[in-house]
Amino acid sequence: MHPSRFLILLPVVLGLLSSALAQNARPKGKANETYAQLCAACHGKNLEGAQAPSMLDDVWIAGSDDESIAKSIRNGFPEKGMPAWGAAIPEKEIRAMVIYIREQRALFQRGQMTFTKPADSTTAKSRLHNYKVNTWVDDLIEPWSLAFLSADQAIVTEKRGYLYQVDKGKISPRPLLGVPVVDTGGQAGLLDVVPHPDYAKNGWIYLALSDPQKSVAGDPVSLTRIVRGKVKEGVWVDSETIFRAKIEHYVKAGGVHFGGRIAFDRQGYLYFSVGDRGNGANAQDLTVPMGKVHRIFDDGRVPTDNPFAKDPQALPTIWSYGHRNPQGLARDPVTGNILDAEHGPRGGDELNWVQTGKNYGWPVITFGMNYDGSTWSEATAKEGMEQPMTYWVPSIAPCGINFYTGEQFPQWKNHLFLASLAAEELRRIEVKGDKVIDQEIIFKGLGRIRHVIGGPDGALYVLLPKRIARITPSE
Ligand code: HEC
Repeated sequence: MHPSRFLILLPVVLGLLSSALAQNARPKGKANETYAQLCAACHGKNLEGAQAPSMLDDVWIAGSDDESIAKSIRNGFPEKGMPAWGAAIPEKEIRAMVIYIREQRALFQRGQMTFTKPADSTTAKSRLHNYKVNTWVDDLIEPWSLAFLSADQAIVTEKRGYLYQVDKGKISPRPLLGVPVVDTGGQAGLLDVVPHPDYAKNGWIYLALSDPQKSVAGDPVSLTRIVRGKVKEGVWVDSETIFRAKIEHYVKAGGVHFGGRIAFDRQGYLYFSVGDRGNGANAQDLTVPMGKVHRIFDDGRVPTDNPFAKDPQALPTIWSYGHRNPQGLARDPVTGNILDAEHGPRGGDELNWVQTGKNYGWPVITFGMNYDGSTWSEATAKEGMEQPMTYWVPSIAPCGINFYTGEQFPQWKNHLFLASLAAEELRRIEVKGDKVIDQEIIFKGLGRIRHVIGGPDGALYVLLPKRIARITPSE
């Protein structure tokens, strides 16, 4: 619009604003509501622009990084009609506003794009390979993890507490007997399944599960437990607990954020993740197992060179801390690094290289905000806290991750694949050392993806609602 017309409108708009502020009607800290009340009049209801510029396009007059956008909001451009909001909006909430603008903008831009949603058995295209998606196993309810035991044999967990064998693509008609009882409320359940690196020799299979117990007060409580056992003739046998927290660390059953992923490094150490159980403070507290990645030997003994092994105040199994809900854990086949993918709050999902004794910052620093649009933390970085390798705003809800090491897709070799729940995306991520150098959405819209893993046949297996799909190359 013509600037002169804008200047005529300006007093009206500012008048409205100041009366809104005078009545103390400003919503308390929710970015979407603050936006609707203070910004929409000029920037448009959906950030599409009106008398003030659109915030959905790629044009940023005053800089496109988070700090520049925050500065535009704080200081305004009074001579051009953009008020300075620094006095009216607390700094913390300006941070939430920046996340909100980024989120709305990314959602809009995604809405403009088309993503591949492959139908069964038809060729779909991606940047490096054409592929087909076929149902491999169905009749499942909620598959959570999959592991291959040999060329023909696999094993599947279902969240509701069932463990199935798959033999040459045929699932066992009944779940295995003898599997430990699990809590299945909320996000709790039977979680990861991973064979020992020497499975062919020793037969050990590891499970992560939400372990239901009773608190001292008699309440149902649960927490992530790690168990190993063997499968003999359709029965889970020789079950041993490898990690179990003290009962006082267990919290009310049926809750959130169990983590529950397992990975082995090259030396054979076992890593597993425990989420913060919905209480961010746990992640910074070294006396509790929540919000951590732990490292133990394959039989549950604690390595004496763990970072806090000699600290009498800390739990000796802790490897890294400041995690929210790591539901992905994988070893980079090139570097041997262990990577975790974790759910942030609204925005701020992360991919991290988890290193010994390091603090990944939750809940002190984050790129996300609360689900209701209020600020979690104004800080995205702090001395002594690690930055993620990459993060996602808006959230995609990352779950399982695995590097592809098969032969069927040569251009995908050693690339990381990530399953996402909320965004329903299968992502390919190219990692070089500690850097993410490329990302692609292979497909989207087949439902929430819980996990992805390469099979011994070089196909890629994806855990979808009710079924497992197999991805193979196509002309
Ligand atoms: C009275 C009208 C008006 C209101 C209300 C207003 N803005 Fe603006 N805003 C503008 C104008 C005009 C510009 C463009 C300034 C320029 O041309 O340099 C602008 C620019 C911006 C920019 C910089 C954009 C860029 O391209 O770099 C941001 C960010 C921004 N506004 C955010 C907000 C937020 C957040 C609010 C609410 C808290 C808000 N604005 C409320 C008029 C307004």
